[in-house]
This record gives sequence, structure tokens and C-alpha cells, in this order.
Amino acid sequence: MDISKRIQIKHSNITEYESSVTSPVNIAVIKYWGKRNSELILPTNSSLSCTLSQDHLNTKTTIRASPKFNTDRLWLNGVEEKISASTRLTNCINKARELRKQLENALEDQEENTSEKPLSKWKIHIASENNFPTAAGLASSASGYAALVQALANLYELPLNQTELSKIARIGSGSACRSMFGGFVAWRAGVDPNGEDSYAECVAPESHWPDLHALILVVSDAKKGTSSTSGMSTTVKTSELFPMRIEKVVPERMKKMEEAIKNRDFNSFAILTMKDSNQFHSVCLDTYPPIFYMNDISRGIVHLVHAFNEQKDSTTGKPLGIRAAYTFDAGPNAVIYAEKQHIRELVRIFMHFFPPATTQPASTYFPDPFGVLQSESD
Ligand code: DP6
Repeated sequence: MDISKRIQIKHSNITEYESSVTSPVNIAVIKYWGKRNSELILPTNSSLSCTLSQDHLNTKTTIRASPKFNTDRLWLNGVEEKISASTRLTNCINKARELRKQLENALEDQEENTSEKPLSKWKIHIASENNFPTAAGLASSASGYAALVQALANLYELPLNQTELSKIARIGSGSACRSMFGGFVAWRAGVDPNGEDSYAECVAPESHWPDLHALILVVSDAKKGTSSTSGMSTTVKTSELFPMRIEKVVPERMKKMEEAIKNRDFNSFAILTMKDSNQFHSVCLDTYPPIFYMNDISRGIVHLVHAFNEQKDSTTGKPLGIRAAYTFDAGPNAVIYAEKQHIRELVRIFMHFFPPATTQPASTYFPDPFGVLQSESD
């Protein structure tokens, strides 16, 4: 998260305040899917993600508060949107304003009372831009709400730490709470009906495993067919596999994943990541009516990663081991986790089998470049 303090802008006889924040996306390796309370956005299970470097995929949000603004306004990627159309957005803004108001009451803050109204009463203009496809399963709501909440916190100078702020980001979009931290981040589901113990925390900083890289394979930048919000709500209502995932699988996986990260154990990290992605998409398929987020190209990528991981050393015949892991969110795009020394080779292989703007027929998306899978089934 790129945080800078708010700035003060003085022109003619008025003072305005502005804050700007750039926030990164996070990609879950143990997926959040399902809510126990959809208003407060309380999840059915804990989840864990890696926050990506914000040099690549990010949301930049600038908020200006001015005594001369008449209404709150929002521009998303340059297009004006109605703030009132989104309850989640208004919930986040209202929460931040309420906290600002408490601060003003407590401090009897004179500083900004230069106009007739205190800052909590000023209207705001928000401009938010993603540098990647919005709503294509690339975690745009995560970086979007994280940037919004951090920018509001800076604007209002709220004395809250990242964990506290993660609870506000959570009411915007569940996965956003994890983007309030860099590195490896757990969202603890919690048990409190009011969500006081449902927050994100950093389990290891980015510097703990600098060699771990993420490769984003944009299969499609089209807006997804079923939003995460409606998809997970139908899953909770209809999937018979879902309770098993929540009760039996995820709690154990969270522990194992934290252990794998602590030990920089790529083998365990990768297996858990791939299995969790597969199980998330299985409960989507078990949802009625079923939800399909992955397409033929996504499945081809899965196949290719397994083939890569099954490769043997050409001279010794020894297995080279698991060197890449795929994961898919609510869309067909793949995120590949791998250690730095394998990235170049992986890029070469993906570019070879899935050249940009490919027109290959679906059947050729199931390559067996190393002859491994074929020879095993023969
Ligand atoms: C598949 O956070 O977008 O990416 O809380 O309804 O806004 P809402 O859902 P959202 O869901 C993300 C789901 C996921 C998995 C994950 O990021 O953990």
C-alpha cells in the first residue's frame, strides 16, 4: 500500500483537503467463498492470500474534500458512477465519516473548523482508476475498496491501525480487507456476530519470501458472468459439498498453508494452492444452477502446469519436482505462483502454447509438451 499523508490545498479564501493512495491486488491461495452475514460481509471461512507488488496491478484512488462541494461524487476509470447505487460504497464512506465525527467531538478539533462546517460534514469527490481489467476476476474490488478506505482514513486522519482499517475495507468487499497489508495475509473469519474479530493480519511480510513470484495469465478481460457476491450466495444455499469444505477442509488447510509459508516450503505451498483452487471451482460446479468460471483455456493451463511439474531430469531421470502452482478466482484468468528461477521458463512455455490473442481450437489447449501425462496414461 502506497500511503502518503493528506495534503492541504488553499485557494482564494477556501481550504480543501486531498488524499491519494495506490493499493495492490491480492490473490488468495486459500479461497474465501461464502458469507455467514452478507450485510457485514462476514465469511463462512478464513482465507489466505499473497498481496502482489503494486508496481503492476493496482488501483489509485484520490479523494478531495471541499466545503464548496454540494454532493458526494465518484468517478471510476474516468466515468461518473452513482454513489447511492452501491450500499457497500456508502457503508464504507459513512463508517469513515462517523469515525471522523467521533474524533472531532473528542478533540473538539479547531484546525478544520475554519469554515462553518467540520470536515466530517464536507462532501467528497472520489476518483478511482484500475490499471487492469475491472471485474474480470482479477481482484479489482479488493484493491478498489482497500484504496478507498485507506484514502478516507488519511483524509480524516483516523487513528486506526491496518487491522482496524481492514474491518472497514471488509464491509466494502470481503477480499479487500487482505489488501490492507503487504506480503502474506490471513483473513480470520471470526465468530463474533458483529464482526469485531473478522479482520486481516499479516502472517509474513513480502521480504520473507522475495523469490516467490506471481505470473498473471489474462485469458479474458471480459466482465465476469456471475459476480462473486451472487455466486457465493447461491453456493451457500445450494451446494452439498460446501459444508464439508468449510468444516473439514479449510481449517486444516489454513494451518498447513501458514506452516508452508513460514518454512518457504514451495512444494506444500503449491499443492495446497492448487487443491484449494480446484475445490473452490468444484463447489461452484456443485452450486445449483452450476457456476463455471474457468474455460477451456483455463483448463489447458491447469493441464500444462501439471505436465511441467511432472517433468524429469533428462540425464538422471529424477523428477524435477513441483515448481509451479495455478490458482483461479471468479473468472477464467490464471495466476501462477513460482519461484524466481523458474519464471523465465514458464513464460516461454505459456507464450508458446498460449500465444497472445490465440485462435487455436479448444482441443489444442491441452498440450502435453513433455510427453509425461500421455506416457503415464498409455
Ligand atoms: C474467488 O471479495 O469479490 O476471489 O465480499 O462479495 O465482495 P464480496 O466478494 P469478493 O470475493 C472474492 C472471491 C475470490 C476468492 C478470494 O479472493 O478469496
